[in-house]
Amino acid sequence: MLTIRLPRIGSVAAWRSEARRLAAAGVAAEHVRWTQDAENDLFARDDAPRGNPVEIRLSKQALFDIESSLYHRDPERFARAYALVLRLGRGEIRWGDRADDMLRKLLHQRKEVGRDIHKMHAFVRFNELTEPGANRRAFAAWFEPDNPIVEAAATFFAKRFGDMDWVIATPYLTARFIGGELAFEETVDNARPTEDASHDLWRTYYANIFNPARLMPEAMRSEMPKKYWKNLPEARLIPELIRTAPARAAEMQAKLPSIPPAFAAKAGVTRSPMPQDLTPDTFKQHLDACTRCPIGCRATQAVAGQGPLTARVMVVGEQPGDAEDLAGKPFVGPAGVLFNECASRAGLRRAETYVTNAVKHFKFTPRGKRRIHQRPDAGEIEICSWWLDLEREWVKPKLILAMGATAAQSLTGSSKNITSRRGSIEATPDGTPVLLTTHPSYLLRLPDTGAREAAQRQFEADLREASAYLR
Ligand code: URA
Repeated sequence: MLTIRLPRIGSVAAWRSEARRLAAAGVAAEHVRWTQDAENDLFARDDAPRGNPVEIRLSKQALFDIESSLYHRDPERFARAYALVLRLGRGEIRWGDRADDMLRKLLHQRKEVGRDIHKMHAFVRFNELTEPGANRRAFAAWFEPDNPIVEAAATFFAKRFGDMDWVIATPYLTARFIGGELAFEETVDNARPTEDASHDLWRTYYANIFNPARLMPEAMRSEMPKKYWKNLPEARLIPELIRTAPARAAEMQAKLPSIPPAFAAKAGVTRSPMPQDLTPDTFKQHLDACTRCPIGCRATQAVAGQGPLTARVMVVGEQPGDAEDLAGKPFVGPAGVLFNECASRAGLRRAETYVTNAVKHFKFTPRGKRRIHQRPDAGEIEICSWWLDLEREWVKPKLILAMGATAAQSLTGSSKNITSRRGSIEATPDGTPVLLTTHPSYLLRLPDTGAREAAQRQFEADLREASAYLR
């Protein structure tokens, strides 16, 4: 038997390299014991026989599923995953073979992990711990997931709360995001933060956003299972909110006419026919008046594309950000600055390209004085593609550079993961080549310097490829 002891932090990466090493040495699954326990086994011997090497070759999907399943709490998960990759390597089963018990079990656990991560993203509640005079705000949260998922779940928080310091402690591990660096450590005893005044603030907020007219206790319970309630300060309000809901709904009804008419009118989504008499000169004016989806009702203005209509290369981003919404021009904020720098290094002269977005209004949620970017959904992308199609018709580019998943989806119709597609050329339904690349905002959000530099090199390589179409 050969004992493989995986670390508690970084166990998935460690499993991956051990699995490759053992498979290459032809060590059968039944001769390996996988553990994360720190027991002292001085007498453990490696007497596992070596056999024919097995080459592990996995599709992206298979690798994703297998590695996701390793965040499950089942102690057998590492052994099961190793046995499975050996069987796949030997061609004994195929990925997606639902009749195979081992594969079915792994996929079931991967699903449970996915659900658990989703719950963690939704239900973590931070306590503010900022010291007076500190230059970054600091927060802590305690959360009890069903599985040791904190490493898989934490990047979401790093992206969303990148300008704050925070700690999320769980019974398994603790994620710590300080000064923009994400790290993990063993959870110390008594990590659960104490109640403080920020809970009261949160409670007030929750009571205000709680919409009594939409009260659906069953749906609420299934979305927010009771076991999470004990760590949610707002949960204590729920019984009272439910009790008073009918009266508050009536009160809300009575207040409705006081909504300012301009906003109410703008917020009303209409599916009137698209204007027929459009020219590049009247484009912006029509865009500003678009009410085919609700995004526009909060935005300052629509942002049309910019650049010569004779451009051979069209660059498409996701949607205007905060700066673009105010300026009325695409890519003038931080993502635009990075794009300009990379483009000029790659020889892609911005003045010779037509730069636009898949969605023409800034979608955000207000948080205090800040406007937090929100990704447009599939329906919004679809609705807005009418405007983008019009720009494409006018420009007739030889190549479209799609930056990020939203642009890719709008132009190719496929919502498949952009990281696996970047650098490849696909096409619009009418046959225009679309070179897929990452979005510059994604580069700005990568917390690890090495990873950021590598991703930026790839991004510049894609821009260089696009620049060849300028001639
Ligand atoms: N991000 C985009 O996708 N477009 C912009 O115009 C700015 C930021």
